Amino acid sequence: MIILAFFKKKKEAPINRIIPEHIAIIMDGNGRWAKNRSLPRTAGHAAGSKKFKEIARYCNKIGVKHLTVYAFSTENWRRPKEEVDAIMNIFRDYLRDSANFKSENIKLEFIGDRSGMPDDIVQLMAQAEYDSKDATGLKCYMAINYGGRDELVHAVRDIVKEGICAENITEDTISSHIYTKHYPDPELIIRPSGEYRLSNFLIWQSAYSEFWFSNILWPDFSTEDLEQAIDDYNKRNRRFGGV
Ligand code: FPP
Repeated sequence: MIILAFFKKKKEAPINRIIPEHIAIIMDGNGRWAKNRSLPRTAGHAAGSKKFKEIARYCNKIGVKHLTVYAFSTENWRRPKEEVDAIMNIFRDYLRDSANFKSENIKLEFIGDRSGMPDDIVQLMAQAEYDSKDATGLKCYMAINYGGRDELVHAVRDIVKEGICAENITEDTISSHIYTKHYPDPELIIRPSGEYRLSNFLIWQSAYSEFWFSNILWPDFSTEDLEQAIDDYNKRNRRFGGV
């Protein structure tokens, strides 16, 4: 029995499956993961950050072109100061270390309202974007101080400032004024942790996204889970309002 288990062939991905060009992930469940281990919530965020690196590398390996992760929402400032400070420190550590991503050919970009972020983090974000600008592999977008409604408010303000007439405003006008204007909408949005909502994430861009939910807490999310999400995505019948 043990020998059989040892030789059990790893499940192969079907040859003709489609890898979504753009996957978006709500990295939820860090706090509960920590609580289950009697650890402080901040330990959950540290584990979540490590998991993000692993999943981004794997996405790069299997040919995902764009990955957007929800790292900090415009609403997350409501958390206790101690937790917010700890998350900001995780960002600092991660950004100082982001040269690793460059060496793996992963391009980093950030979406969200930078004006609300500490100055040193804004500088580190700009540096990380600059350092990885020539990478040709996965484009990884971290949503920091991001809210979908806030994004639309900024887009509308910009459209008004540019003096675009009401009758000339189309869906493309909106799409070209949001943070994600340079990349396609996500085909697949993954939310672990047993919550079944978008929580203000990519609300414009997700109009026709496929959703994949699971009870797994983010730090426990594995590359096998990602493979499962992609396999399930391949079984979906996307009709975009047609028949
Ligand atoms: C949601 O879990 C997680 C957050 C609001 C913060 C996410 C931050 C990280 C994963 C760190 C990211 C860092 C990098 C560098 C990507 P939760 O705290 O809401 O968990 P809970 O629902 O179990 O309380």
